[in-house]
Amino acid sequence: MDCKKFVEEQIAQIKRTVGDAKAINALSGGVDSSLVTILGYRALGDRLKTVFIDSALMRQGEPKRVVDTFARMKIPVELVDAQEEFLSTLAGLTDPEEKRQAVTDTFYSKVFGRLVKESGAKFLFHGTILTDIEETVAGIKRQHNILAQIGIDTQEAYGYTIVEPLKTLRKDGVREVCRFLKLPKEIAERIPFPGPALATRIVGEVTRERLATVRAATAIVEEELADSGAFQYMAVLLNDRATGIVGNKRRFGRIIVVRCVQSTDARTATATELPWDKLNRICSRIVTEIEDVSRCLYDLTPKPPATIEYV
Ligand code: XMP
Repeated sequence: MDCKKFVEEQIAQIKRTVGDAKAINALSGGVDSSLVTILGYRALGDRLKTVFIDSALMRQGEPKRVVDTFARMKIPVELVDAQEEFLSTLAGLTDPEEKRQAVTDTFYSKVFGRLVKESGAKFLFHGTILTDIEETVAGIKRQHNILAQIGIDTQEAYGYTIVEPLKTLRKDGVREVCRFLKLPKEIAERIPFPGPALATRIVGEVTRERLATVRAATAIVEEELADSGAFQYMAVLLNDRATGIVGNKRRFGRIIVVRCVQSTDARTATATELPWDKLNRICSRIVTEIEDVSRCLYDLTPKPPATIEYV
């Protein structure tokens, strides 16, 4: 692929499309929305408003890390604290699909929808890639109708335009353009992370306390497996407990599952054959460093029959 040509064409196209109007986009910190932010900012400068929505479901230090990474590239990102909105919608929910729907609805209809309307922007940038379009057509993914998702009636909202600068690229193409632009490795080479974030890594109810447990375990797993070369790795909090011993006392503690998989496109996956020493080290850190965790398990199940995430 001719990356230079792609970047120049997209910037020119964005300038032509947006003219002197304003645009807005939501940055997640993932590779697709990061590249969209960079192309949009190069084309529009301060007429692009980029927001990072802190849903309370992010990984340790993530909101600040993303804002700081972009600040180093001189791209302003507005951090929007929506923690309470997400947590109150998720309270009491245990069904996986209801939890996913709650995150989607809070993100689009409540928070991003409100920001779009307040911003005066008529153009919304979105990091849709070719695979998203193919999977939507094939019925694998839910339809990405962003205007409807943010609660904007397309008839009434005449004038809103969705701009999708990456819709001709697949993930490897997106990474290639990021490398061409010399973007930091923490953007270009990031492992996949799901939109509903840590809510997909908690079986059962999502609460602040349970998020803190899975967030601490995720930080340990990501640190220990950063150089594993695996496709994706994660920690998951189960909804059950098991007995352990702390000092001389029995403790009915929480259970963390570690998952690390090999895959090329996430449609199928196999468990990574990690060295025994590495597994022992991760297990030992998780049960000693995290309050109230008494067991750590390694998941061997391939996809199919399992999925990669737990929710
Ligand atoms: P599953 O669990 O379905 O996941 O085997 C396949 C890949 O997709 C990611 N994933 C998501 N990504 N929004 C996303 O952007 C989502 O709702 C979502 N659910 C799963 C998952 O991390 C894995 O890489």
